[in-house]
Amino acid sequence: MGGEVARLAIHDPPYNLAAFELRSVGTFIDWCKKWLISTEAALASDSSLYVWLGADQNNGFQPFPDFLLMMRDQHFQPRSLITMRNQRGYGTQKNWMAVRQELLYYTKGKPVFNIDAEYTDIPKILRGYYKEINGRRMENLERSHSDTIRAGNVWVDIQQIFYRMEENVSGCYAQKPIKCIDRIIRASSNPGDLVIDFFAHSGTTLLASEILKRKCFTVDIDPIYAEISIRRLERFRATGRLGWQNGHPFEEEVPDIKASAIPTSVDSAQEVLF
Ligand SMILES: C[S@@+](CC[C@H](N)C(=O)[O-])C[C@H]1O[C@@H](n2cnc3c(N)ncnc32)[C@H](O)[C@@H]1O
Repeated sequence: MGGEVARLAIHDPPYNLAAFELRSVGTFIDWCKKWLISTEAALASDSSLYVWLGADQNNGFQPFPDFLLMMRDQHFQPRSLITMRNQRGYGTQKNWMAVRQELLYYTKGKPVFNIDAEYTDIPKILRGYYKEINGRRMENLERSHSDTIRAGNVWVDIQQIFYRMEENVSGCYAQKPIKCIDRIIRASSNPGDLVIDFFAHSGTTLLASEILKRKCFTVDIDPIYAEISIRRLERFRATGRLGWQNGHPFEEEVPDIKASAIPTSVDSAQEVLF
């Protein structure tokens, strides 16, 4: 990183679920510790860390609780456990449909938190909660700072990626919506800050950082995903497009493959597996 330190880390590692390469929980957690140590070294003294993680309901909910316990020994303050709701879930008729994605928020020192980023586009409609302020009875809509509700730690307003969306990147089974990464970046960094992401995949953090005028360093162990991330950024810079709605990142090299033949999300992979 040439001596630069980051203000924000957004990591979305493989979750140790069957859809990814399944390792023993202990091995997975030891591996997480390694990238957390690298993350801490790469972060400024006042900075934020967000980690997306899953829980395997068919296998003791691993690795989620194991990860939380391990984090107690790291040098980060736990701040919030956010749940993002997926529109489509997976599951059987004999269990609750799995529609959640967990997002952990930790901090180091006293980082920025821009509260404006937390407001959604959902109008505030709840009336009837009164409070006396300076002798005057005020209704809660009058008292509020915004006409829309705060996202809080349950995010219900984010459309998960599917192939018809403009930002879809065919072949990226675990792509996160730009909207959720945008929310994190706006809340926990300022323009010009450096953001890091050790698990680029479709390059969502890279792209959202570009749009929000942050700088981003990102990597992926798989050269295909590293290449996809580069192409996605280059395509955005050239055309303003966010993804490949009706095509795919390798259409120049392999024009015969149809976008519809490529699995697009981890949910479609999981539907096959469970
Ligand atoms: C869940 S996906 C990340 C999705 C990403 N947030 C997005 O929106 O596209 C995890 C990625 O981590 C990569 N990965 C797995 N092990 C890695 C490692 N040791 N170092 C770097 N990347 C790794 C995988 O190749 C995969 O692309």
